[in-house]
Amino acid sequence: MFISFEGPDGSGKTTQIIRLVEYLRAQGRQVFQTREPGGTPIGDQVRDVLHDLKNEGMHAHTEILLYCASRAQLVFQEIQPRLAAGEIVICDRYADSTLAYQGYGRGLDLDTLRLILNFATHGLQPDLTVYLDISPEDGLRRREQAAQHGAEWNRMDALSLEFHRRVYEGYRVLMDANPGRWVSVPALGEPDEVFARVRDAVMARLQSE
Ligand code: TYD
Repeated sequence: MFISFEGPDGSGKTTQIIRLVEYLRAQGRQVFQTREPGGTPIGDQVRDVLHDLKNEGMHAHTEILLYCASRAQLVFQEIQPRLAAGEIVICDRYADSTLAYQGYGRGLDLDTLRLILNFATHGLQPDLTVYLDISPEDGLRRREQAAQHGAEWNRMDALSLEFHRRVYEGYRVLMDANPGRWVSVPALGEPDEVFARVRDAVMARLQSE
C-alpha cells in the first residue's frame, strides 16, 4: 500500500507522518517512510538546489524537472522495490504537489505536467492520499513561528500569500476530481486530535484492502 501525504506548507504533515509510522510499526507492519523532494542521496542533492534561496532565478520549467528528477530516482530506487516486497510506503508529498504548486500555484499547463509526471513516476499513483487541510493564512502563521525557532525557510516558503492561496484552491480541485483516493483531515488543533483522525482514515483503508 502506497500512502502519500499532501497539504499546504505549515499543515504539520511531517509530525503526523512520524506518529503514523510509529503506530503502524508497533502493530508489526513493515513501513518505509520517505519524503519529497529527496529521499535518496541523489534526490537530496536535487532538494538542496530546489530549496536554496540563492536560486531565485530558477525558471519554472527547471523547477518542475528538478522535482520530477528527484521523484523518478525515489520511485525507481525505493518506492517500487519496497511496494514489491509488500511494505507500506509513506511519502511526505508526491506528484500531487507538482500539480498543486507548479500547476495551480505557478499556472503551468496541467496536461503537460501530467505527461511529465507520468514519465517520472512510471505511472505509479498512491493508493491513498491523506490531505492535511489548513488555510493558507494559518499555514503561513505556523511556518513563521517555526522559522523563528530555527526551522528552514526555503525558496517556496518565501513565495507570496497569493501563490499559497492558489495552491490551496488547486488541492481542492484535485481532491474533488478523485474523491476515492483522497481523505481530507482538518489540520488545526492539537497534534493528538489530528492524529486520531489520520489514524482512523488510514486504518479504515488498510482494513478494507
Ligand atoms: P519541505 O521543506 O519539504 O516542506 P513541507 O514540510 O511543507 O513538505 O519543502 C517542500 C517544498 O517544495 C514545499 O513548499 C512544497 C514544494 N514542492 C513543490 O513545489 N513541488 C513539488 O513537486 C514538491 C514535491 C514540493
